[in-house]
Amino acid sequence: MTQLLLDQLSKTVAGQPLFTTDRLSAQTGDRVGIIGANGAGKTTLARIIAGQEADFTGTRQVTDTVVLVPQIAPTEDKSGGQSMLARVRTALAKRPAILILDEPSANLDDQHQRWLNRTLQHFAGVLLVISHDRTLLQAVATTIWAVDDHHFSQYNGTFDAYEMDKQRRTANATDAYRHEQRERHDLQLAAQKRREKANRVRKGGRNLSAAERGNTKSLRERTAGKIERGAHAMLDRADRQVVTEKPHQVASIKLVATDLPPVQGKYLISASDLDLRRDGKLLLRRASFRIKPGERVALTGANGSGKSTLIDAILAHQPQTHLAASARVGYFHQDMTELPTDRTVWATMARATTLDVNRTRQVMGAFGLTARFYDRLVGDLSGGERVKLQLLAILVSASNLLILDEPTNYLDLPALEALADYLVGYPGTVLFVAHDQAFRQRVATRTLAVDHQRLADPQSTAQGTPATDLPRLRFEYDQLMQAPELDQAKLKELRQKIAAAQHENG
Ligand SMILES: Nc1ncnc2c1ncn2[C@@H]1O[C@H](COP(=O)(O)OP(=O)(O)OP(=O)(O)O)[C@@H](O)[C@H]1O
Ligand SMILES: [Mg+2]
Repeated sequence: MTQLLLDQLSKTVAGQPLFTTDRLSAQTGDRVGIIGANGAGKTTLARIIAGQEADFTGTRQVTDTVVLVPQIAPTEDKSGGQSMLARVRTALAKRPAILILDEPSANLDDQHQRWLNRTLQHFAGVLLVISHDRTLLQAVATTIWAVDDHHFSQYNGTFDAYEMDKQRRTANATDAYRHEQRERHDLQLAAQKRREKANRVRKGGRNLSAAERGNTKSLRERTAGKIERGAHAMLDRADRQVVTEKPHQVASIKLVATDLPPVQGKYLISASDLDLRRDGKLLLRRASFRIKPGERVALTGANGSGKSTLIDAILAHQPQTHLAASARVGYFHQDMTELPTDRTVWATMARATTLDVNRTRQVMGAFGLTARFYDRLVGDLSGGERVKLQLLAILVSASNLLILDEPTNYLDLPALEALADYLVGYPGTVLFVAHDQAFRQRVATRTLAVDHQRLADPQSTAQGTPATDLPRLRFEYDQLMQAPELDQAKLKELRQKIAAAQHENG
């Protein structure tokens, strides 16, 4: 029987405590889901378990050899999804007693995700899976190790059970917070009343004679003092009583169109009768489509179906494709790892940004890259932090067309939401690939699907989200407003269209 035990582990990075742990244990047959925010230390914990990282304190007992499939690896000549699959298959073939997979579902299409879930359910040894993928976690994990506020703790149960338990705890905390606030308010009111009473006592009644006033002065003063001390104690208590921190929310960010260079022409990207091949293999037959300014188009299709190849063709101005001359492209591609690693986070952003310092900080903050990251070297960032930085560098550059190939890999939930918010509020045009269906559904105004070498172009997303013209109309409006001569008639027409579209969207 294989045993794995970590007890009171403590890991420090660059002089700062990164995490500590409870007693974490697993044995043959256990499947552990390791979850937590980007940069919380999940990959670091995996490396400690695998024996690749020896700089820590506490107990580590591992009775067998460990195979670790790392988060980011060179993809060589395969697509991102195919490369991850190959590495998982190789690792499984070794039949390890302990297997750690770091974000194995990144880049996988639906079919391969299902394959992965099934395969891992039948794994015979100890399985540890680091993931942000809720479907995978629920399908596979029997135990959860969650890192929260720099501490790993163990929950014996499925991911859903863990989430429910956590929700209950958060609800309790919110209740406790509200309750505390109410009590605090009551105490403050009571204290205020006492102070007023103390003042009245100090002054004495209106119908006191001068002599009486003089005689009772010190008594009144003493009594008032006592009442005031009582009030003070109440206020003290009110302050001490607040132990629960207010649950905070991140503000969403919006870019305004004036930040972007204007687009000329009716279409930003188009293709007509495009045949697409890679290594002699036909991927697309006679594909035609057109993308208008302001659209957010999701490109979908199985692993290896040619999504990235199509994007490459557009960017390379291949025959039968057209990219508007006024397009300023911000391009993110799968598992980008090409930022210079010896530069700091701030220096990287400063090079890329066209926004002022405050806006740049704001946008970074919304993605969780706060001031404490500014002096950190890119090479020291976690997988998710690196993806955030690379995305941010693109988002703050003055692009009017974003082409994002799998930008959601490795992102934690808050970052995923910040990205979705950002794109929904972005007035330019977006062409993106994302295996995360919920993300696609939120962001896309339209879907292009690669299926059996055909490009299907339904006018709305597969999930039935209605296409909305709103972003494009707003964008056109802003463009017109910037034109040297105002076309009042056209502006009026656009205003009416925008109002109508807003009405349609509720
Ligand atoms: N030399 C260093 N100096 C400062 N911070 C460092 C250094 N090396 C690593 N870190 C930080 O340690 C933290 C933990 O990194 P780790 O890769 O374990 O996170 P993770 O939980 O796997 O995150 P992700 O979900 O993004 O993969 C990160 O915030 C990283 O920036
Ligand atoms: Mg990691």
